[in-house]
Amino acid sequence: MGLSAVKGTRDILPDEVGIWQKVERAARDVLSLAGYQEIRPPIFEFTDLFVRGIGEATDVVDKEMYSFRTKGDDDITLRPEGTAGVVRSYIQHSLHAQGDVQRLWYCGPMFRYERPQKGRQRQFHQIGLELLGTDDPRADAEAIAVATDTLKAIGLANLSVSLNSVGSREDRQAFRSALTRYLEPFQDDLDPDSQARLIRNPLRILDSKVGRTQELLIGAPQLLETLCPESRSRFDRVRSQLEALGITYAIDPKLVRGLDYYTHTAFEIQSDDLGAQNAVCGGGRYDGLVSELGGPETASVGWAMGMERLILLLQEKKDAPQLPVDVYVVSKGEAAENVALAIAQQLRGAGIATSMDFSGSAFKKQFKRADRSGATWAVIIGDAEAESDRVQLKHLESGEQVTVERTDLVSAIRAPRS
Ligand code: HAM
Repeated sequence: MGLSAVKGTRDILPDEVGIWQKVERAARDVLSLAGYQEIRPPIFEFTDLFVRGIGEATDVVDKEMYSFRTKGDDDITLRPEGTAGVVRSYIQHSLHAQGDVQRLWYCGPMFRYERPQKGRQRQFHQIGLELLGTDDPRADAEAIAVATDTLKAIGLANLSVSLNSVGSREDRQAFRSALTRYLEPFQDDLDPDSQARLIRNPLRILDSKVGRTQELLIGAPQLLETLCPESRSRFDRVRSQLEALGITYAIDPKLVRGLDYYTHTAFEIQSDDLGAQNAVCGGGRYDGLVSELGGPETASVGWAMGMERLILLLQEKKDAPQLPVDVYVVSKGEAAENVALAIAQQLRGAGIATSMDFSGSAFKKQFKRADRSGATWAVIIGDAEAESDRVQLKHLESGEQVTVERTDLVSAIRAPRS
């Protein structure tokens, strides 16, 4: 069997990488403008961090983690998401002691053993944001506003924001009991996944896509109706902040999210152009996570976007930018080939993006490759040039060609053209 990438992973080839860089740049600009600083935690952590942080009864921990035991007998897991690692780092380095809220963002690969399909991979990439240290409802609205600004800067439109509140831990406990009580009489009619969830994680039944289960849920108690007055009023304040910012959203009372750490605000941003895996961004408040992992009580909110999904949407708009070089060096003959690399290095050293041809093939073929490279200029070195201190400089679009002293080459390339 030939070697190929592992199922659920893919290579991002050079003709695609420009669009990834464009997305990363747009996100970095928006996040910096809002005062967020980049953090780069490791991509693997002790397994226990994710088990405690994300929750044992979640699909991510139960079925999807890439976990292994190291030669040193440590239980390690490739991070399935970014929040747990950021929180671990926040606690370990006492970032809370800096006295203010922490506005952090990250970007990188995550790993989940899921069934691959369009927009769903086993190694995927997220851009994420965490705002730690405040329970102010304006922080929830800020996080959502920065998410929508990021998506706009990336060039995406036609997205919709879904919002819900999963309440405090106590609210969730009360809802969990009410939902279980309601569903128990229908237990045998539920799909097998939901039957298992009824015992371990009944809230996730609300997420079921199975028609019969959906029907059974029509008369089920609603999360928002079971919120205590404080949680209800908190949710109303988040809503009015969003409305003041002109952010349109739809309330989705079934939005519970797949990770256990959420409290109060939960949200997702979806695109209708993506098919089944339509969530481009998901997040919410997680007021108990920092203390759960051994840090001080720290109310926090955050989100993450799936970069593959962002890029699928952009590619559907055929918006891939090119990053061509400025100069392509062509050379033929031993003496010429010997000076070609020195000239390429001279140009690179001067900050001029330069590629060169190693083929030694006929000039005609080398010029074809020069055109394909997208370069503006070709520097041509043949026997005559190799014996002098001159080169030929050709403007590839106009075909104009001049002889230039090597020492003048950089300024000739930089000179404005009439
Ligand atoms: P999540 O909803 O599990 O949340 O993931 C966030 C986003 O990552 C999803 O909306 C989706 O775009 C993308 N995503 C998830 N799984 C895959 C996959 N297998 N393939 C491709 N894309 C995927 C979290 O990860 C939370 N840590 C977000 C958060 C941050 N909440 C608070 N702070």
